Amino acid sequence: MATINDNYLKLKAGYLFPEIARRVNAFAEANPDAQIIKLGIGDVTEPLPEACRKAMVKAVEDMGDRSNFKGYGPEQGYAWLREKIATHDFQSRGCAIDASEIFISDGSKCDNGNILDIFGNNNKIAVTDPVYPVYVDTNVMAGHTGPANDKGEYEGLVYLPISAENNFTAELPTEKVDLIYLCFPNNPTGATATKDYLKKWVDYAKANGSIIFFDAAYEAFITDPNLPHSIYEIEGAKDCAIEFRSFSKNAGFTGTRCAFTVLPKNLMAKASDGSDVEVWKLWNRRQSTKFNGVSYIVQRGAEAVYSEEGQAQVKELVSFYLENAKIIREKLTAAGLSVYGGVNAPYVWVKTPNGLSSWDFFDKLLQVVNVVGTPGSGFGAAGEGYFRISAFNSRKNVEEAMQRITENLKL
Ligand code: MLT
Repeated sequence: MATINDNYLKLKAGYLFPEIARRVNAFAEANPDAQIIKLGIGDVTEPLPEACRKAMVKAVEDMGDRSNFKGYGPEQGYAWLREKIATHDFQSRGCAIDASEIFISDGSKCDNGNILDIFGNNNKIAVTDPVYPVYVDTNVMAGHTGPANDKGEYEGLVYLPISAENNFTAELPTEKVDLIYLCFPNNPTGATATKDYLKKWVDYAKANGSIIFFDAAYEAFITDPNLPHSIYEIEGAKDCAIEFRSFSKNAGFTGTRCAFTVLPKNLMAKASDGSDVEVWKLWNRRQSTKFNGVSYIVQRGAEAVYSEEGQAQVKELVSFYLENAKIIREKLTAAGLSVYGGVNAPYVWVKTPNGLSSWDFFDKLLQVVNVVGTPGSGFGAAGEGYFRISAFNSRKNVEEAMQRITENLKL
């Protein structure tokens, strides 16, 4: 009989967000009149920017015209989009990233998981705790860990705790690690990283031959002019970091699907015979074999983000969600809760009141005021006792949810 990849059996029951959806659906079925407001999964609610829509409509027309019709595109993405990204997102900030180092994809979650294809099985891997669960689960699936303990921590991973005490920024590991996941602005805590902080990691990685996976999916939410948007703003990062970016949260592409990975050509890693290998070549080979690129129509939509009107519209979208985050922060703070993040990030990280566990607070919020958030413990053992509230929703829903929480929930 055929056999399966046993590593999947090590995974905890469900991926966090489907598990939340399961509980919410069960509640909704039992309480059909409940007006549930979802501030759980970080999924955008506001319409696509007009510039992107117009560009996609035009692209559909191109596809109906033999002379402009496109079949398979380049697996790495169209040159016109890669050029715009390299110029606008990197070169304008002094980062020497070339268009050939940009790989367009259908999502950051996919890239974060797929990147493990090109790395070996014996790397020591560090993640923060709490952390975006995709980093952990994809390593479990790839067989890079042992089983999970009672707290849900997988054997073999190095967990770097983040909490209010260290401003939700992990200390450098005391043991040598090879692959390091960093996410700033952070999901789930909403924390940010300064250049000095990232410099410590770049220095560590260069000294230890490690590679940093830098997830910058939320960089558009940075309003503080002193904070870096890309790890490549740190000297030396091109030698030791891969960056993941997305159009999901800045331009509302969660349902449209477009993202990109930056893989510098001079980034090297070791083969098992000790020779040095250019990681770019392996990723290029992987993408050419397993991926056929993002649709022409969607890439034209993403390109429009870089037009003058696209930039203005994206800015407006991001400001809208940041205003939601501000409302959440202010209302919950006034209600006496300890609240973090939500200033340069769309996530607000809340200490649960009265020592409630994360899932108990989740159930209480759902059952008493019909508001959905994300239990902190779903992001790791150190997230226990915390709760994440997403700012991705309409203003009306955010205001209504805050009113229900502050007026009807005994905190
Ligand atoms: C989240 O809620 O953490 C996000 O939806 C993650 C994602 O974009 O996959």
